[in-house]
Formats: sequence, C-alpha cells, structure tokens
Amino acid sequence: MNTGQVVETFTEFYRERGHRPITGSTLLPPPTDPVLFTTSGMHPLTPYLLGRPHPQGRRLVNVQRCLRTTDLDEVGDPTHLTVFEMLGSWSLGDYGHSQSLRWGHELLRDGFGIPQERLYVTVFGGDDQVGPDTQSLRTWQELGLPVEQTGDENWWSNGPVGPCGPDSEIFIWTGGSDTPPQGTPTTDPRWVEIWNHVHMRYHRHEDGTLEPLRQPGIDTGMGLERLLTVLQGCGSVYETDLFEPWTRLLPRLWDLDERSMRLLHDHLRSSIVVIGDGVRPSNTGRGYVLRRLIRRLLTTLRRDDPSHTLIDLPVELVEHTLNHFHQPYGPGTVRDVLLHEERRFTELLERGQRVLCRPEFNGPLSEEDFRYLHDTHGLPRDLVAGLRTTG
Ligand code: SER
Repeated sequence: MNTGQVVETFTEFYRERGHRPITGSTLLPPPTDPVLFTTSGMHPLTPYLLGRPHPQGRRLVNVQRCLRTTDLDEVGDPTHLTVFEMLGSWSLGDYGHSQSLRWGHELLRDGFGIPQERLYVTVFGGDDQVGPDTQSLRTWQELGLPVEQTGDENWWSNGPVGPCGPDSEIFIWTGGSDTPPQGTPTTDPRWVEIWNHVHMRYHRHEDGTLEPLRQPGIDTGMGLERLLTVLQGCGSVYETDLFEPWTRLLPRLWDLDERSMRLLHDHLRSSIVVIGDGVRPSNTGRGYVLRRLIRRLLTTLRRDDPSHTLIDLPVELVEHTLNHFHQPYGPGTVRDVLLHEERRFTELLERGQRVLCRPEFNGPLSEEDFRYLHDTHGLPRDLVAGLRTTG
C-alpha cells in the first residue's frame, strides 16, 4: 500500500463506522494556546474532549500534521521524525474504549493485513491516583493479544493540565518476518509502538488534581510514517514512498553518512513544512525552533565539506513537501527563506572564526568558554567544535 492508500483505508474504515472526516489544522495552535506547535492529533480538539460540542458531531477522523522537538536527538534513527502525521479517530462522549480497541484490532488485522502474532499491546496498570485499566486488559485478552501492564508509559496527557487518561498502546514486531517475536514492548526495542488509544476520562487541573470528565472521550493516534514503514516492509521511515523524492535526489548531491543524511531529510522537510505554515526564522518562539532546525541541518551538511549549500536543494523537494501538506506558499518563497537563513548562518560562522582566533581561546575550551561563545556570540557548541577542527 502506498501513502495515499493507507490514508484512504484508515479514513474509510472510520467513515463506514459513522465518523466524519475533518480537515487537519496547521502546525500552529490557536493564539491562546501556550504550546508553540501542534504536537498530536488531539491537540486542536482539546476543547471538544473537555465537553464543548463539535460542529461535525461526536465521531471524527482525520490526518493531522504534528511537530515534536522532544525527540530531536533521536532523529536519524529508523523511526523518529520532527514533523510527522498522525492518523486519528475520536469519540466525543460517544462510544467507549473497548469499542475503540476492537475497531483498532480489526483495522490492523483485516484492513492492513498485519498478522495477529506480530502485535503486542500495553495497558495502564494503575498508580496511586487511578486504578488499573481492567476493562482494556479484558478486551485485549478476549481478542487474544498478549498484554503488558505498565505505569506512567500508559498514561497520556498533552501537558501538565488538560484532558488526560489511561491509554493502550499497540506495538508491532519489526524484528523481521523470519525472526519470531521475542520479549515484550518494554524489554525488546524491536516492538515498535504504532497506535495509541487514549481513554480521556479526566481533566487535570493546575493543582494536579484529577476531575472525572462528565463525557469521557476516546482519542486515538497512529503515526502514519511508522505504519507505512511496517506495511511497506522498510527498515526505516526514510525508505517509505513518502520520502521517495528525497532519497532519490539528495544522496546524488551530497555524500553523507546514513545518520547525517536522515537528519538532513528530516530537518529540511520539517523546515519546509514549518515555513509553509507561515513561520519565519527568529530568535524567539516558533521562529527559534525553525532557526535551530535550519542551523542543525546546515551544521550537518557542512561538517565534512563547507562548500555544501542549500542553493543546490532541488526545487522538486520543496514542491513535493508543500503539495503533500496542501500548503499555500510557492516553492520560491520557501527557498528564499532557507537561503536567507543560510546566509545569516554563514556570517555567524565567519564571526565565530574571528572570535576563536583570539589568544584566550587557544587552549582547550572550558564549559564556561562554551557558554560564553553561545550566549554572547550565538555560537552553538557543535559549531565551535567544528570550527576548531577545521580552522
Ligand atoms: N494523543 C495520543 C498520542 O498522541 C493519541 O492520539 O499518542
């Protein structure tokens, strides 16, 4: 199944079960939201999960783009992306958690053809505030799936306050079809989480107390790219059809090790999406996240060869990304933003070289030196290290 077919299969499955498809929002939450970027499919639906009636009804389905910087250091491994898409389904005070788990199981097995023996699930085992999720445990046992009970890992919230509740995560064995599944999701990393079914039962307040919701809801989210990786039998998200133009065009231009190349794919694609949603590089807020992404990718790109430049970035990749996310900007505008930021960064590097020539920076650098260079001259640590080895 290619990306379009996977999205269609998911959406149709829920549409046939009474869910209304809604358009995913941009990466930018409403101005009153303290969070910089949309981090999950449920994020734009928070008021409705807390009880406000949704104009499209009580059963919804969509694809939502998300951005998470918490996983930044993991980017380059086979599964983590900065910008990714979540396939989501919701019951706003309608059907219960057990129904959601049963549909989830049916869709994975019959819709996507994933064999039962490659699945494992986890459920909330309880803590000092909330008891174990015995209903989910029973449902999974009836469906014949192996279950592991955990604590915190199976409690979902989108921040310290707001809707939250116990969740049930579905894992797929990625150890290869000729290697029988081993261990459990918490003991063997070859079990990869792909779908989370949250039972939004509580509202957590500022003081940490949990208030039961009058209308508990269901929020599910499945990482599109991870699902594609499994269904297309790929070793990483970068080998799926979604990244096809990237993996075809970039390695011809720039010769980098695998992890660096993945980081470049991820950060470039993420930067294009963020710019396509109207953000511009700056020293604060969203613009700073974008600036950091661009600087990280430039540092990686130039590490082995300082002549590498985004001027060579094929416009086809910008276009492909903007089209995929249905974004209004033309590729020329996005490219101009990237190139302008690249020029600023180059100037910063030149300044850095001049500063590092000073006699006080001749010997090994202390933590205090690194802090000074970062805080006063805007020179990130890895860049300073790079300048000293090349300079
Ligand atoms: N909110 C849950 C998650 O992000 C499920 O959508 O995993």
